[in-house]
Amino acid sequence: MNYFNELLKLLDNAYAEYSDFHVASIAVTRDGRIFKGVNVESAAYSTTICAERNAIFSAVTAGIKPGEIAEVHILARNAENRLFPAYPCGSCRQIIAEQSHNEAVVYVYRSETDVSRHTIAELLPHAFFSLK
Ligand code: THU
Repeated sequence: MNYFNELLKLLDNAYAEYSDFHVASIAVTRDGRIFKGVNVESAAYSTTICAERNAIFSAVTAGIKPGEIAEVHILARNAENRLFPAYPCGSCRQIIAEQSHNEAVVYVYRSETDVSRHTIAELLPHAFFSLK
C-alpha cells in the first residue's frame, strides 16, 4: 500500500525547528494497523527523536509486540522545501530490526510514485539482538 498522501500531511506536524528537515513515518503492523510518527527536535539537540522511532514507539505504547511491525514508510522534506529520500539512521534501524524480528520492509519515498523498498536486514546487516 502507498502511504504518500498520509505522509505528506503528517510532514506538517514535524517539529524541525533547528534543522528545518521534516520527516514523517508510518509503521504498519502485520495485521494492517498503522502508527504515525514525526521528528521532534529540541534546543538541546541530542534529545531530538526521529520520526521512525516515534512511529514505532507509538505502536509499542499501543500494545504492539516485537515481531508485529511489518513495514516502515518514510517521507522527508528538506530546508529548501523539496522532498528528500531519507533512510533511517542507525539508531532507528536497530529499533526497526528488533520490533520486526528483523523482517520489516522499509519504504523510502522520493515522490508518490518513486519509492525505494529495502528489507531491514539489508539496511542493518548482522544486527545485534538480545543475548537472552
Ligand atoms: N531524522 C529523522 O526523523 N529520520 C531520519 O531517517 C533521519 C533524520 C530527523 C532527525 C532530525 O530532526 C532531522 O531529521 C535532521 O537530522
